[in-house]
Amino acid sequence: MGKHTKKTDFTLSGRFLTYVLSKGCNVKGIRLATSRGEQYIKLSKALRPACADILQPGTWIQIQGCQKVNTKTGKVKLKAKSIMPALPGSSSSDDIEPSPHAIGNVQKGKIRICQKSSCRKRGSRKVLTALNTALQTSGRDKEIQLQPMGCVGKCKAGPNLVVLPDKTRYTRVKPKNITHILQQHF
Ligand code: FES
Repeated sequence: MGKHTKKTDFTLSGRFLTYVLSKGCNVKGIRLATSRGEQYIKLSKALRPACADILQPGTWIQIQGCQKVNTKTGKVKLKAKSIMPALPGSSSSDDIEPSPHAIGNVQKGKIRICQKSSCRKRGSRKVLTALNTALQTSGRDKEIQLQPMGCVGKCKAGPNLVVLPDKTRYTRVKPKNITHILQQHF
């Protein structure tokens, strides 16, 4: 830790917005709508596998972790160590009661794309990037969540993609197919 860095614990509640993916398309953090605005919170490595599939946009959650504040620049970095359900409107640990049913209705669906080696060789990363761009430019990135997924056993027909809740599978997807897929399902 640098001499200008101060480390403290934090507790924060808010609505889960979206996952943030690393360059390798793995989940590395989340965006949370809180009373102090939208926050990016990095997930500890131990939390990543457990969180990757379960959070739905609009879900109220409470996060505990540590924050590093650069006392020179004022920049704050948040890292989550634990995530639990929270009641809508929660702001501190004192008024939290776990509620697994506290799920909002913002989300319309999910698109999962295989990011394992065979699909990657066949261009699944380009498809993921194209989808991400299409959703962000149309402002639908909060309604339709993108998720990397593991091998589904159809490696030679990759890139493989699944649209939820319909559970429709697509094979050999190319970036030019994205518009059609979005029109079909959303
Ligand atoms: S690597 Fe994508 S389906 Fe097997």
